[in-house]
Amino acid sequence: TEISTFQQDFLSWYFKNKRNLPWRENTEAYRVWISEIMLQQTRVETVIDYFYRFMEKYPNISDLANANEEELLKIWEGLGYYSRARNLKIAATQIMEEFNGIFPSTPHEISTLKGIGPYTTGAIASISFGLPEPAIDGNVQRVTSRLFEIEHDISKTSSRKIFDLCMRKIISHEYAGDFNQALMDLGSRICTPTSPKCEECPIQNYCLSYQKDTQLNFPVKTKK
Ligand code: ADE
Repeated sequence: TEISTFQQDFLSWYFKNKRNLPWRENTEAYRVWISEIMLQQTRVETVIDYFYRFMEKYPNISDLANANEEELLKIWEGLGYYSRARNLKIAATQIMEEFNGIFPSTPHEISTLKGIGPYTTGAIASISFGLPEPAIDGNVQRVTSRLFEIEHDISKTSSRKIFDLCMRKIISHEYAGDFNQALMDLGSRICTPTSPKCEECPIQNYCLSYQKDTQLNFPVKTKK
């Protein structure tokens, strides 16, 4: 089908071009979780050093649950949004108490952890546990809205369902985590907000807005 050649083209591009990032060295849920939380409001280049320092100081869930809060905030200094760090410790404690210290593996359980919303749930479920769950952030909304010319306003909460359904139709079941990370890489390197490099895009042929030259009309966003 159309979907599978699409997946093949997209995944081949990803495997050939993916960035070597420290949290891609292995897919342990603890590492994926910490990196995804750091990456939420901070650029990849900045996160790399923080990620190494964090892993050195808190190599596992139990170390994080037992972290001294002052030291934890010190490690986080410069990343901002300090509630992210406080929530990490709270969630680590939840994992110790409610899940016997084992990172939970179902989307529902993952989503009960403090500070983990739908995006992070999908990222961990797909990257660490191989589940075909969407991980939709701003970059992914931009890519998918261009690909399918989705006219729904991304600032409305109701459009979440639309993007979720769209992604569930196209996500690779065999390589769910790679597929989601391919979308992230495409969004940050090629399908950029103001001057997308469509000539270099591996999924150009499948992209409605490339065909119609409407890339810059997407994503639709009313509120700023
Ligand atoms: N941005 C958010 N998550 C990411 C990931 N896993 N790899 C690269 N960039 C990201």
